[in-house]
Amino acid sequence: MSHDLETYWNRYGEGVKDEEPAEPLTFGWTQYDGHGPGEELLEQPDTTLELGFGRGRNVAYLARKGVRATGVDISGVQCERARERYGHVPGARFEQGEVCRYLTTAGDDEERFDAIYSVWGALWFTDPERLLPLVRQCLAPRGVLAFSNAPAVPGSYGVQGMYGAGFKGRRLWIYRWAYTPEDWTEILERHGFVDVDAQVLEAPDPENVGTLIVRARAPH
Ligand SMILES: C[S@@+](CC[C@H](N)C(=O)[O-])C[C@H]1O[C@@H](n2cnc3c(N)ncnc32)[C@H](O)[C@@H]1O
Repeated sequence: MSHDLETYWNRYGEGVKDEEPAEPLTFGWTQYDGHGPGEELLEQPDTTLELGFGRGRNVAYLARKGVRATGVDISGVQCERARERYGHVPGARFEQGEVCRYLTTAGDDEERFDAIYSVWGALWFTDPERLLPLVRQCLAPRGVLAFSNAPAVPGSYGVQGMYGAGFKGRRLWIYRWAYTPEDWTEILERHGFVDVDAQVLEAPDPENVGTLIVRARAPH
C-alpha cells in the first residue's frame, strides 16, 4: 500500500517477455531496432555503469567488448535473470539496488566511472535534482553521462505520476521526469555538466514517437 518501487519494478520485470539473445549483438538507445546511434556515444570507456539495466543486455554487450561494465537495478527479478543469462561474461557485474543509494556508496568508495548511462532506465524514473549530483560525484573527470527515454508529451513537463497496477489494482505508483531538450540542457549545466547535447531523434516513420537522447560530460 505504498510508493513501493521494488514491488512495482519486480512486477514489470515479470511481465517483460524473456526474448533477450544470449549474445547481445547491438547496443541501441531507441525503441526501434537498428535505429539511431550505438555505443559510440559512450566514447570507448574502460569502465561503465548502467542505471536500470533491465534484462542486462547492454552491460553484457559492453563487457564482451572488454569494458568493465557494471549495472545497477532495483528489481531483484531483473537482477537474477541478468546474472543467470550474462553473469558468466567476464567484466559484467549486475548489482541490485536503488540508483541514488548505490551511487552514494560508490561515491564514498571513490569509485569513478568513465561513462554512466541509462537506456529508458532508472534516470527517467528518478528526480534529476537528487540524481545528477550523485552521478557527477561518480564520474571520472570528463566522463560521459548519456541517457535516452521518450520525449516529453507537449505541455506536460516535470514530474509525472502513474499508477502501476491499473485503476482497480493495488495502490502502487511511480514517477517519471519529462523535460524538453532545452530544459535538460539547463538542468545539466546547472549541475555542472558541460558539452551538453540534448535532442529528440525522429522515429523511422516521423509520424511515430521519437526518442530523447541526451549526452553531457563531467568537467575536468
Ligand atoms: C523501462 S526499464 C528499461 C530497462 C533497460 N534499460 C532496457 O532498455 O530494457 C527500467 C528499468 O529501470 C529500473 N529502475 C527503475 N527505477 C529504478 C531506481 N530508482 N533504481 C534502480 N533501478 C531502477 C527498473 O527495475 C527497470 O529494470
